[in-house]
Amino acid sequence: MDEQLDAVLEAAPAVLSVVYGVPSAELVAGAHARGIRITGTVTTVAEAVAMDAAGVDAIVASGAEAAGHRVSFLAPAEESLIGTFALVPQVVDAVSAPVIAAGGIADRRGVAAAFALGAAGVQVGTAFLRTRQSAASDAHRAAIAAAADTTTVLTRAMSGRLARGIPNQAVRTIEQNGAIAPFPAQNWLTGQFRAEAGRRGLGAFASLWAGQSAALATRTEADEVFAELARGLPA
Ligand SMILES: Cc1cc2nc3c(=O)[nH]c(=O)nc-3n(C[C@H](O)[C@H](O)[C@H](O)COP(=O)(O)O)c2cc1C
Repeated sequence: MDEQLDAVLEAAPAVLSVVYGVPSAELVAGAHARGIRITGTVTTVAEAVAMDAAGVDAIVASGAEAAGHRVSFLAPAEESLIGTFALVPQVVDAVSAPVIAAGGIADRRGVAAAFALGAAGVQVGTAFLRTRQSAASDAHRAAIAAAADTTTVLTRAMSGRLARGIPNQAVRTIEQNGAIAPFPAQNWLTGQFRAEAGRRGLGAFASLWAGQSAALATRTEADEVFAELARGLPA
């Protein structure tokens, strides 16, 4: 971990994004000394207050609609499932850093709503998954193309940590068997078949991360997604 952070500081990207906790004072100071802006992701107001106290440059408020892992760090992820619409204004009221809204934003309407709630920016994942520039597999793309509002679920089955995705045979079978190891053990275990599933293009045994806005992810060029999102920015 320390070696990874040293490598990031040396590479000096424009932004360093931290999840699953508050960055140390040394890391924030080290990033700032190299001109790197640092952001931290939160899922509750309490996490946002702790993140703000660490002196980050922006706080990503991640609502329960978002794809992938719930990066909660002060309470269990299952108790930190606030929707973006409720979370963003409460975080804005509680912190001094600019707030970036994440979760469920997929077009100009979502961007406009996020800014109306007090956000200074948005973070978008799901809307890009079907674009030509995405690294998603064909099976992942097909699952998103077939998704409706009710399709995604929160599960610990694939990694041991709570994450949102499209349920498949692997998720259903693991959840029915009831035995899920904690992270990182579960992640390692499922990695044994996920790697092979990737090679064979088997969506039934892959991680199909996607957010609740999956059905809005209709565009297949990333610049079209950016253009659509930009139309929701305040004048
Ligand atoms: C395929 C995929 C994998 C993701 N994996 C992670 C992850 O490992 N850690 C994390 O903090 N966020 C992860 N995210 C969340 C994104 O960083 C972003 O916050 C989220 O996609 C925003 O919500 P949306 O999907 O509704 O647009 C992932 C998103 C996607 C689409």
